[in-house]
Amino acid sequence: MALLLFIFPGCGKLGDQTTGLITGEAMVVSAHPLASAAGANMMKNGGNAVDAAIAVQFALAVVYPSAGNIGGGGFMVIRQSDGSLHSLDYREKAPMQAHRKMYQNKNGDVINDLSILGHLAAGVPGSVDGMVRAYEQFGTLPWRDLIQPAIDLAEKGFPLTEREASKLNDNRAEFISTNTVTPRFLLDERWAAGDLVYMKNLANTLKRIRDHGRSGFYEGETADLIISEMKRGNGIINHDDLRRYESKWREPVTANYRKLRIISMGPPSSGGIALIQLLKMIENYEVDTMDWKSENYVHLLVEAEKRVYADRAVWLGDADYFPVPVEQLLDDGYLHRRMADFSFNHAISSDSISEGNTQLEESVETTHFSIVDPWGNAASVTTTLNGSFGAKVVVGGAGFFLNNEMDDFSIKSGFPNMFGLVGSDANAIEPGKRMLSSMTPAIIEKNDSLYMVIGSPGGSRIITSVFQCLLNVTAFKMNMQESVSAPRFHHQWKPDRIYVEPGRIPEITKQHLVEMGHIFEETGSIGSVNAILMIPGKGMEGGADPRGDNTASGF
Ligand code: GLY
Repeated sequence: MALLLFIFPGCGKLGDQTTGLITGEAMVVSAHPLASAAGANMMKNGGNAVDAAIAVQFALAVVYPSAGNIGGGGFMVIRQSDGSLHSLDYREKAPMQAHRKMYQNKNGDVINDLSILGHLAAGVPGSVDGMVRAYEQFGTLPWRDLIQPAIDLAEKGFPLTEREASKLNDNRAEFISTNTVTPRFLLDERWAAGDLVYMKNLANTLKRIRDHGRSGFYEGETADLIISEMKRGNGIINHDDLRRYESKWREPVTANYRKLRIISMGPPSSGGIALIQLLKMIENYEVDTMDWKSENYVHLLVEAEKRVYADRAVWLGDADYFPVPVEQLLDDGYLHRRMADFSFNHAISSDSISEGNTQLEESVETTHFSIVDPWGNAASVTTTLNGSFGAKVVVGGAGFFLNNEMDDFSIKSGFPNMFGLVGSDANAIEPGKRMLSSMTPAIIEKNDSLYMVIGSPGGSRIITSVFQCLLNVTAFKMNMQESVSAPRFHHQWKPDRIYVEPGRIPEITKQHLVEMGHIFEETGSIGSVNAILMIPGKGMEGGADPRGDNTASGF
């Protein structure tokens, strides 16, 4: 079996890349060519999709440190070839000393950036526990083999891509101001494409995880290093938080949409519920007869998005702490009633759906990878530090970034988080609670068979990115690569505007939509989707998003 490697050299005009890698047996699509290769090699050596997912998660923690991680968390959705479904929640948790007003001053005002930058922004990391649990349930290759590629990359060095070099350079000032012991590689003045990076401390941490599993991270030397870092930076994670962290197997959320079955992550992610709500809200409209560029199509999706994100702000949170009304939110009647006041003639302002004002900052720092193995098992994994390089804090002596996931809580009712998302009680901070996520790792079935594996980074924009890429294939007959390359748009209820990538909506259509009451704002990238589409009789096609260094690799 020849191992093929397919690398997008960079982002041309959105929509330029029209054909993805096609393979017969197995594929990984991830945010970095070296991580995709690590996952594909596992399957070449006889490993399954979960073995490959674990190898990719650890490799991304080295080569893609802005979002790949061992100091963050994520979700893994699995469909085995026999049709059985599983979802693993390894989302971070609030430390036990966290409390509802921890990011507010004594007047109740939110303190600038406290939930975003520095030690107090970090939730208790879940990624290592998640990988251990996934391995216990499904792993087949030796555990050490799954981590070794990451150790080798960190120890022997790996070449930076142009994008990764720019990220390190652009964040240098914040790395220096936020860290108590800034690692050498974050201090270097100018990185360029092709420069080799070595991460010796991270390699040693990964070796402890390789040799001791879960306790190589949550106990012993790594735990001590995390707690020392917390003490130096006034953070609140303690040994007990680390020892008590546990990831959880949860029921995936599933629903039928036309001839498809959607399988995704339930709470504490809003992603699966929101994706299903969006699809159900537009189910009674013949989107496949609409023009992809038409005002009717854009308007329909935007109006559904406003209603779904309004629900998200009030009803979604960690179901272990808040009674999320999942059944009602996914009820056909409820969703069709939510669209009862929809009209093709005019926009309904977000203020008349609910109240609040937000500002949106852009960030795509989370990362998604999709995997199908030679037996037809599939893993859809989204993992995150939240913002780019998370809290921008590296654990001194341990070499990995800590997340700033605490900002995904509603730190004050109605106060927008870094993605402009607002929330309330359902997502208020409580000790031990998981913060609400938008991550939408999804697997789609058609005629009871595996059809698509898909997901994206992009904070609040994850859900709408996955939604549109799915429709691009099912309603507009694009192939997988065309679907992920095509430009996108996004509305999230608050603020009341349509964010649009260049080239997505023709000027004349925009004018008509403005006349109907819509407001536009041109934006950089919306999401960065990595997906696999099964092609009956031929194998599978990868869709690696040209918005990043995303790469499909397989055989
Ligand atoms: N941190 C982004 C998300 O979980 O939605």
